[in-house]
Amino acid sequence: MTLTVLGINRTQDASICLLRGNSIVAMIAKERLTRRKHHWGALGDFERFYVPSVPELRETPIDAIVECFSTQELSPHKEQQYREELQRTLRLTPRTRFLRLSHHFAHLYSAYDPSGLEEAAVMVIDAQGSHLRNLNERWSSGVPDDPRLREIMSFYRCRPDERTCLAKQAWDGTMSQVAGLGMFYYLLTQTFFPGEGNEGKVMGLASYGCAERATTERLRVEDHQVSLSEWWKSSLVDAPVRYTLPADDERFQQAADFAAAGQRAFEDALVSVAHWLHQASGLDQLCFAGGTALNCSANTRLLTDTPFQRLFIPPAPGDAGTALGCALYGMEQLTGVRSSIRWETDYLGPASSGEALGRAGDIPPEWHRERPARLWERVTELLVSGRTVGLAQGRSESGPRALGHRSILADPRRPEMKEHVNRDIKGREWFRPLAPVVALEEAPTYFDLDGPCPFMQWTALVRPEYREIIPAVVHCDGTARLQTVTPEQNPDLYHLLQLFRERTGIGVLLNTSFNGKDEPIVESAADALRCLKTTALDAVVLPPFIISKSVLD
Ligand SMILES: [Fe+2]
Repeated sequence: MTLTVLGINRTQDASICLLRGNSIVAMIAKERLTRRKHHWGALGDFERFYVPSVPELRETPIDAIVECFSTQELSPHKEQQYREELQRTLRLTPRTRFLRLSHHFAHLYSAYDPSGLEEAAVMVIDAQGSHLRNLNERWSSGVPDDPRLREIMSFYRCRPDERTCLAKQAWDGTMSQVAGLGMFYYLLTQTFFPGEGNEGKVMGLASYGCAERATTERLRVEDHQVSLSEWWKSSLVDAPVRYTLPADDERFQQAADFAAAGQRAFEDALVSVAHWLHQASGLDQLCFAGGTALNCSANTRLLTDTPFQRLFIPPAPGDAGTALGCALYGMEQLTGVRSSIRWETDYLGPASSGEALGRAGDIPPEWHRERPARLWERVTELLVSGRTVGLAQGRSESGPRALGHRSILADPRRPEMKEHVNRDIKGREWFRPLAPVVALEEAPTYFDLDGPCPFMQWTALVRPEYREIIPAVVHCDGTARLQTVTPEQNPDLYHLLQLFRERTGIGVLLNTSFNGKDEPIVESAADALRCLKTTALDAVVLPPFIISKSVLD
């Protein structure tokens, strides 16, 4: 009998993941459906968003539902309401099991289980996870008395039949005791960009700075525990520094220097705890999850500056990925064995929305719709002529990186493209880097990279002889956060790269997520066309169609 399991994450970046046997039917973050970034889970999500978008939720009876929470406490009344909504909207049976998973354990299941690694050390680092009293993993140190304590960094040794927690760092939730790498980076981000989910902006900004000009102060690291030194505490908590961007050159430089110092302190401490974990676990392979695993520059140092030989970071290492962790945990509970599902591509969005893309019926009469006989040749032509193209095809990416199913593509040889895409399409800061995509076998030609990077998890130096040839995708420090692609992962994108190389001699394209200002990545054809309408984007490719606001020569 084929079992069906649903994983639910109702925290920040709320998401669901539906498994059937050994395949992922659909995984999607709520933000893609509501068009609000980092949208938290709430009552009514299934009725209003998930079930209409993932009809498979009602097609087969669900054998288990696994939900993870963080420090949110649900009242019994609220819990009852959640349960009633699931019963009302899904196909459940009297035998459907309801399970709960604590937050870091859900991150672990999202990283180790689909990694394909037989054994691995696992590191989970975010701002905060579950209260220690709610853990459903075994932890040899036992649970301390203080009910306020919550997990902030967790370290494990994993084998197919073992998931041992080696250590955890806990925090009582008070700002006077603030600790851990996730909270550090969160506070650093608030210095420049208040609000949620702006950590990526700090990474971009940091590359323009000189850490030493701001401070050489490090974080305090003892084995696996990280705390803020008095200097960092005073700068981020007691009398927080605040920068407003954009600013004049001098103030921009001061902000960039401070960001660089924070990034450096973060990276050094991360490398230290990884060294500790390598020794404590006795293993050479590492899986890393939690929101901090989105820090590409730091991830690169895990590859270069620690003894770990292999590193797996899932495509959605933040909270959205815990829905998959929950589902894999549930499947293991039902079958008694580790799931054989591997997270090898990230095109896990609902099949129904993927199929609907190609219909693209409703466009304004003054717009132009063409159906070229040779679609990818025509797209190449548009790119070579300096057009920006939004590509939406098939199932969307589940993680925050667009990997060629919901991507904006452009010619990386044009230096003006960086400012044009950042300012006129994405409405974001000029210093945000734009990424390259390249065929896996050609990556070493352009980049100092050893091995695949299919989910943009780390950065690589662009070879000096190519920095002026593909300037739109080279960050100011000479690096790029690239995606490597194979014909198996994405045949159309691979083919397009080949065509572009035949035309230009360069096998690299600019690839950034398909969205306008302050919005999540597009999900539907309607989202893509709205982006075309409201931005300077030149065309949208919804195979087999190309849609533009006017005829493009
Ligand atoms: Fe998390």
